[in-house]
Amino acid sequence: MADMTTALGATRLPNPVMTASGCAANGKELHRFFPVSDLGAFTTKTVMRDPRSGRPTPRMAETDSGMLNSIGLQGPGIETFCVDDLPWLATQGARVLVSVAGGTAEEFGEVVDRLVTSPGWPAVVGVEANISCPNVANRGLVFACDPVSSERVVRIVRGRVPAGTPVFAKLTPDVTDVVAIASAALGAGATGLTMINTLLGVVVDTDRLRPRLAGVTGGLSGPAILPVAVRAVWQVTAAMRAGLLPRAPVIGVGGVRTGADALQLVAAGASAVQVGTATFNDPSAPRRVLAELEAEIDRHGFDRFADVVGIAHERTAAP
Ligand code: SIN
Repeated sequence: MADMTTALGATRLPNPVMTASGCAANGKELHRFFPVSDLGAFTTKTVMRDPRSGRPTPRMAETDSGMLNSIGLQGPGIETFCVDDLPWLATQGARVLVSVAGGTAEEFGEVVDRLVTSPGWPAVVGVEANISCPNVANRGLVFACDPVSSERVVRIVRGRVPAGTPVFAKLTPDVTDVVAIASAALGAGATGLTMINTLLGVVVDTDRLRPRLAGVTGGLSGPAILPVAVRAVWQVTAAMRAGLLPRAPVIGVGGVRTGADALQLVAAGASAVQVGTATFNDPSAPRRVLAELEAEIDRHGFDRFADVVGIAHERTAAP
């Protein structure tokens, strides 16, 4: 079997498959299907400073090859997370990527300030700054739509976590130039990037002739967005290879259902892959995708996962 280890900055993980934020709560539900410590990392549901009930229902709508959600960052808030959820994940031996968000850049900092004092902090292998949730009433709060806002949030998060803790900025593809946003995030001290968050969409109920979601808009996820995720990973890692961006690890996410899907993101340049929406109809999907990705890498005759990262760029350049 190939060596599946991967690196997120200075942190090494035993394998490159993670959950995607928001699709497996904080681990207890998924742990009924497989040990969460089997994964390279467990990415938490985005945690904010205060408890939130989220947007009004209905807030899920199925689409062809995907779904829209307009959850609105529902959650118990950072206090409960630090006291209950993170210590539980640490007890299970999980490596934890904590997804954080705030209504303002400063609120991101407040969340991180509390996070680092949790007894579960030693299990944290990185912080993912969710600057791209589409489910906010004011599009101005989708920080990742604007390089200056992205830079401000990442600088605050970077400044509040201990040196050496990887910080990943989660980006949206709903921008004209994702490379410009990536540049702002890396320039502000992000260790790496997570791409992509959901795409903003609307579904109209053709019986009632009104939007299916109470919040009107929602984030599109599922197989429909895999090519968009591969494109974003490709564009940003191509810019890194061309010397237009500093080299940095990328976590690919969006529409992964199988090991072959994960392999697309890896060959396009991702050093790790998150599995999200697939978990809703197959809770074992992250563990299965890991096994399938290992099989794919063996099938291609590679000894090391790391040798496959970005290989499609090399093969594109080859005659
Ligand atoms: C949500 O809670 O609205 C989803 C989170 C996200 O898309 O970032």
